[in-house]
Amino acid sequence: MIAIVKSLFILSLYLISLNCPAAQDIDMDHGEEINELCAGCHGEYGEGGKDGEYPRIAGQPAGYIAEQLHLFRDRKRPNIPMLEYMDERQMPDQDIIDISAYLSLIKLTTKLPPITDDKNFDAYERMLLTKKFLNIAKFDGDFEAGKKLYNKECKSCHGRMGEGKDSQNIPMLAGQYTNYLFRQIIKYNKKTRIHDKDSPEEDYFSEFTKEELINIFSYISIIDD
Ligand code: HEC
Ligand code: HEC
Repeated sequence: MIAIVKSLFILSLYLISLNCPAAQDIDMDHGEEINELCAGCHGEYGEGGKDGEYPRIAGQPAGYIAEQLHLFRDRKRPNIPMLEYMDERQMPDQDIIDISAYLSLIKLTTKLPPITDDKNFDAYERMLLTKKFLNIAKFDGDFEAGKKLYNKECKSCHGRMGEGKDSQNIPMLAGQYTNYLFRQIIKYNKKTRIHDKDSPEEDYFSEFTKEELINIFSYISIIDD
């Protein structure tokens, strides 16, 4: 009997925790403060760095960022560099909500205005923009073949331009470092990450040859240019 009451109590706590807080509970200033911690690795604007050792996190769907932070915190997605930042005490649920909302709203740019001697040219404005600039280098491969495969296999979830889907917590792939994306494929194949929660046992990426994946990533690397 005590066990049943106890499990009902735990279940009700779980259900309360699933009840997402309303938008007014998001504290953007707090998100900005937390970001100072993240910036040491992911950059001031979540642009990532070291050619994808640190992924870009700016502009990802808030729900996706939050999901990954929960997975890190619950030790369900291994991430040794972030380990010391991710425990219940240092990253309570409200922090996850605030930082995820903050990062999701940062817009990076893939283009910089040309430097001109026009009197309207604003050098300071351009300098600020360079901090938010991220253009992924073209990754060698047959991007035409990659485009066909991407449209057939990936587009329905990751979007026509690789932009992801906010409503379903699906990450953007375009504008992400190719090195980082490849590293994730290895993790999915090793099952230290789960690509499709509805069929976790499926070896999704092992259905593709290395060359096919190279071609897909080649296309993803130029899709948002
Ligand atoms: C000490 C370095 C470091 C710090 C500090 C750090 N991260 Fe990370 N983070 C990483 C690394 C490395 C990865 C990539 C792990 C992998 O390859 O799976 C990562 C991955 C992520 C991802 C997954 C991205 C994706 O596309 O799935 C998110 C989200 C993230 N970090 C958010 C944060 C937030 C928010 C903070 C601040 C609270 C933070 N990180 C602080 C190193 C760091
Ligand atoms: C059924 C929908 C679906 C399809 C189809 C799909 N994906 Fe995904 N993808 C997802 C979801 C959901 C995630 C996030 C999973 C997680 O939490 O690890 C994801 C994550 C990824 C990631 C990790 C991104 C990151 O920021 O860490 C890569 C890389 C990826 N997918 C590549 C692909 C490629 C390449 C294809 C086509 C060959 C593809 N996906 C097809 C739904 C899909």
